[in-house]
Amino acid sequence: MTAPLIKVLHKMQELFQNVFAALETILLFPSLFRNHSGKGRFQVAYWRRRTLDSFADEVETLFSAPLSTRNMLTMSEKIREQFRSSLQSSPMSMLPSYTHMLPSGTEKGTFVALDVGGSTFRVALIELRGNGKMEILRVKSDCIDNNVKLLDGTLFFDWMAEKIASMLSEVGENCGRESTPLSMGLSWSFPIEQTSVSSGLVIHMGKGFLCSNGTVGQELGDLIVRSCRKQGLNVQVDAIVNDSSATLLSRAYGDPKTRMSLILGTGTNVAIHFPVHEIGLAKFGVRPQEWFDRAKHVIVNSEMSMFGGGILPMTRWDEYLNSTHLRPDYQPLEYMITGRYLGEIVRLIMVEAVETARLFGGELPHSMREPYSFDTSIVAFLEADTSASLSSSAALLQKEHTFHVSPSVEDLRFLRRVCQTVSERAAGYLATAIHSMWCLRNEVEFPHTSTTSAKTNQQVTVVESEDQSRSLSIACDGSVINKYPGFRDRCQNHLKQLTKETNMLLGIEDRATAPYISLEFAPESAILGAAVGVAVAVAEKQSDSK
Ligand code: GLC
Repeated sequence: MTAPLIKVLHKMQELFQNVFAALETILLFPSLFRNHSGKGRFQVAYWRRRTLDSFADEVETLFSAPLSTRNMLTMSEKIREQFRSSLQSSPMSMLPSYTHMLPSGTEKGTFVALDVGGSTFRVALIELRGNGKMEILRVKSDCIDNNVKLLDGTLFFDWMAEKIASMLSEVGENCGRESTPLSMGLSWSFPIEQTSVSSGLVIHMGKGFLCSNGTVGQELGDLIVRSCRKQGLNVQVDAIVNDSSATLLSRAYGDPKTRMSLILGTGTNVAIHFPVHEIGLAKFGVRPQEWFDRAKHVIVNSEMSMFGGGILPMTRWDEYLNSTHLRPDYQPLEYMITGRYLGEIVRLIMVEAVETARLFGGELPHSMREPYSFDTSIVAFLEADTSASLSSSAALLQKEHTFHVSPSVEDLRFLRRVCQTVSERAAGYLATAIHSMWCLRNEVEFPHTSTTSAKTNQQVTVVESEDQSRSLSIACDGSVINKYPGFRDRCQNHLKQLTKETNMLLGIEDRATAPYISLEFAPESAILGAAVGVAVAVAEKQSDSK
């Protein structure tokens, strides 16, 4: 036989094998081929049987392709354009608070603080002692499970009020029931349209909460006070801050140089102390002229989770997650990097691997069939397990899920590789967004130089004395940035690389003092920041009355 004929026969044999494998897949997994609208099940690109290794290779290629430094810089620049435009007009993001004064660290007092997080509600008694020192005297935490998340509208506030009443009764029989209202600060891990230091209007909430149903546009403090009244409590909300702003305030109390904060837990966000004149006037709503006379900078809740749409590449699993989400396209960055979604992305990859590469012997445990049934804490655990046998990961999987046959070592290795790949991309995307915010800040704080002017080959001179002010120590809090193994370091490494490139563009990379970004822990920052928020509000009121 001639060589071309052999080639043709080989091709035909391959074709028959593929057709056979396709028919077999259709018979075994009919569900894969239902509903190709893209709304229901995600489309499987490769219906042919694959090995786990080749599948893992594909996952790795898709997730890591966008992460070259050059690409990240380009994405950072594009995200900066989105930031700039939202600073002028968006009602959903780049939201200026009323807080223009950062704490001095000398504020004192004992305050009740509430922290509504993505999965926990906490009520605490906090003492600010001056000298940048503060202490949590008492705290009560309640898990916000799925049933609580599904409480519609005001029912959620009634649930909160019950928990507040229970904590206050532990402090003292009459606590919160006296004739003078008890003052409270609130850290809220959702967007708010601030209407004063102590009030704000509810905006649509993500993270699977239904509490904004029917309450959008209502005053958040009033909603809480009304529900508390039903419990016989006499309270008032004296400060409302987004959790990212709380993180900034709490760290600034101990370190007055703090200008930016980051949350990465169930959700993600950045708050930044930003020049007022760089923000569109319409974004401030109706504020007294005296506020503008005083405020040179203001804490802005960037709602950074909402950026990156159309810029950060998505894989087919991201597309599926987004299209089946309660709010598609609402928080593109969040859907690819936070604790609420990392587990789900890994689960969607597993579903496909089970069906096409015989992961877990081709059988997906029942307990993993529901969306969001694979917790990010398992993803983190798998990644931390560096043993050859991965036996503790196997034990955890079997404890949390219903395997008929234990996962093989090959399955576990595949899974660990997928977890690493998904979290590595998350660290890269987060670093890109942070770098973008850093560039934006430098652009507005030091308008005489910018990376853009460097690109157009204009003479740029960043004086050495400016290096320190361009550097940012970012206050960080949230379960993923604090606890996910190696996450913060990976993000920090990306930031190092990105700032180096930017410094190079500005011709200042060689200086020992060259500007940097560093990620610093700010533990318990939401609850502490809510208390600092009240202290700052009280201090402002006092300076107003002078
Ligand atoms: C979400 C919320 C945002 C919050 C962040 C971190 O993205 O929209 O307001 O700050 O999560 O909790």
